[in-house]
Amino acid sequence: MTEARPVVKWPGGKGQLLDRLEPLFPRKFNRYIEPFAGAGAVFFRLHNLGLIGANPRVRKSPAIVNDLNAELMNVYCVVRDQVDDLIEELARHQAHIGDEAYYYYIRNLDREPGFVRSSPVTSAARTIFLNKTGYNGLYRVNAGGLFNVPFGQHKKPTVLDQPLLHVVSRALQRVELMSSDFAWPLRQARKHDFVYIDPPYQPLSRTANFVAYTAGGFGWEQQERLAEWIGRLAKRGCYVLINNADTLEIRALYEAVFKGRAVDFKLQSFETARSINREGKNRRGAQELTVWNY
Ligand SMILES: C[S@@+](CC[C@H](N)C(=O)[O-])C[C@H]1O[C@@H](n2cnc3c(N)ncnc32)[C@H](O)[C@@H]1O
Repeated sequence: MTEARPVVKWPGGKGQLLDRLEPLFPRKFNRYIEPFAGAGAVFFRLHNLGLIGANPRVRKSPAIVNDLNAELMNVYCVVRDQVDDLIEELARHQAHIGDEAYYYYIRNLDREPGFVRSSPVTSAARTIFLNKTGYNGLYRVNAGGLFNVPFGQHKKPTVLDQPLLHVVSRALQRVELMSSDFAWPLRQARKHDFVYIDPPYQPLSRTANFVAYTAGGFGWEQQERLAEWIGRLAKRGCYVLINNADTLEIRALYEAVFKGRAVDFKLQSFETARSINREGKNRRGAQELTVWNY
């Protein structure tokens, strides 16, 4: 049977880390809230484990999935609500696999007047197609917000995976989907909710090429604002699990947040190969920090 998993490849995807994260998931919680969902690898794993929506006393939607990237969240919405129309549209793209000129034609549609009026289904199919056939599954827009990833030399990309889309569509039923800044979904968090926080990481060095997920950025001030929110969540009695780069600054930030709390926080450091945006000799391992408060 097909298991639920991400329908797009996303920079910072937690696929490789999932098996290490799984033992850290709380086994019982009310709602699940993910403010920086990306491709949603953790959400889908929790779904497969039967942990989402397991508490019958929670009447609201069992989960909130959010990402600031509106194009990405449109994919989730369309998979949830219009999966058959999406499959039809993806079948049309699938027929052009390997055709570089077609890739650039679809990619450059965002330069055309009227692009903003394309339907959610057309737009989601384009996003999936570009993600599967563009270079390295990157998401990158220029200063004007135009998608500028070059054609990728994939041998046989699967643009249309029908069984997966159906499984993911079922997993998303009743899930609340949002595209806002992280503070908005975090406002909804209550006692015993499980909040998984996987923000854009602090860059490893000042010169490191920072991953541009959205037109804006995620600088140190944002890391501090997020840390304040984490403090609020801990105070409310949420189960909070956080990933970030393992740097002295990030450790100090979270230590300050959890200092003096009734429940102590725990911390683990993992070695991971962060491959996206790093090629050849720059493709080096980086320590990844995991912090939780339960
Ligand atoms: C490290 S990625 C998450 C990876 C994800 N957990 C996965 O498994 O694919 C961080 C995400 O945060 C989103 N993001 C950036 N700034 C944000 C903000 N202010 N509020 C909410 N999401 C934001 C980006 O669009 C990006 O998808």
